[in-house]
Amino acid sequence: MGLLMDDIPIIIVGCGYTGRRLASRCMANGDDVLAVVRSQASLDLLKSDGVPAVQTDLDDDCRLAPGRRARYVYMVPPPSSGITDPRIARWLSAISCAPERIVYLSTTGVYGDCEGRTVDEDTPPHPDSDRARRRLDAETRLLDYGARCGARIVILRVPGIYGPGRLPLQRLQSGQPVPRDGETGPGNRIHVDDLVSTCVAAIHYGGPSQVFNVGDGNDASMGEYFRLVARLADLPSPPQLPLDTLLERVSPAMRSFLGESRRVDVSRMRQDLGVEPEYNDLEAGIRASLDEERSRG
Ligand SMILES: NC(=O)c1ccc[n+]([C@@H]2O[C@H](COP(=O)([O-])OP(=O)(O)OC[C@H]3O[C@@H](n4cnc5c(N)ncnc54)[C@H](OP(=O)(O)O)[C@@H]3O)[C@@H](O)[C@H]2O)c1
Repeated sequence: MGLLMDDIPIIIVGCGYTGRRLASRCMANGDDVLAVVRSQASLDLLKSDGVPAVQTDLDDDCRLAPGRRARYVYMVPPPSSGITDPRIARWLSAISCAPERIVYLSTTGVYGDCEGRTVDEDTPPHPDSDRARRRLDAETRLLDYGARCGARIVILRVPGIYGPGRLPLQRLQSGQPVPRDGETGPGNRIHVDDLVSTCVAAIHYGGPSQVFNVGDGNDASMGEYFRLVARLADLPSPPQLPLDTLLERVSPAMRSFLGESRRVDVSRMRQDLGVEPEYNDLEAGIRASLDEERSRG
């Protein structure tokens, strides 16, 4: 008799912030889960949560534990330089047993700057930064692998992730500035628990290999988002600076982030994955994140 889909283990490669919450959700659903991380600290954290975990460095020896057919969720970011993703290339060549599927967390950054226009999955990617070029390289390698090896590839293009422990509270406390009103365009976000729901839907998705935009349907600018977090957390509203002045002061990653804007159409996520974000109201999502932080002390 063939293996039932629910009996195929779920292996979360790069089980960090999102991965830990996904692992808990899958284990609560009765799934057989294995987490893969690089550092001892992450390994210890997972073990204290009761999540079976192994440690490996995809820049190095790439030891992959099971020789069983698996459903993978791959969340390791590409390296911090270059325009390709040799990490995922190494991992793909080391998978010993053809995966049933690979769910890959990419970014909406692959679309590049769209000057506030709406993008859907048929919009051709046009990366403006090496960071986004590395992501597109990873997506391309995965789709090629899937076509060659018969594995279903589900690519999730993820916008800014926020949630408990991932709010810009320190930035606000230290009075760091944001761009002046009207100088940055719309941006997109997702609450981590809605991202986890999207990952679960992708793990069960029955269609062919596919790309999905992810998002909560809101498109607040960076300044609007920071001011909202400040208000809800009872912190001072961040000072505003002209965008040109701010761009001179920030890291290259933040510069490319500030220089890009788009609205992400998430109709396919809603229709084909059946995901309706619980936190489609940004204010409710921030409040829930703050509540969880406070309840944890
Ligand atoms: N944060 C955002 O707003 C955002 C937006 C769009 C897309 N994404 C992407 O979505 C994914 C999930 O995000 P996240 O914030 O949950 O990620 P995260 O907390 O940064 O977790 C990344 C994981 O990758 C592992 N990892 C990194 N380098 C590795 C290597 N060389 N070998 C093996 N494992 C390695 C880390 O292990 P250790 O912890 O042991 O180092 C960690 O478990 C990531 O790919 C992220 O880049 C994030």
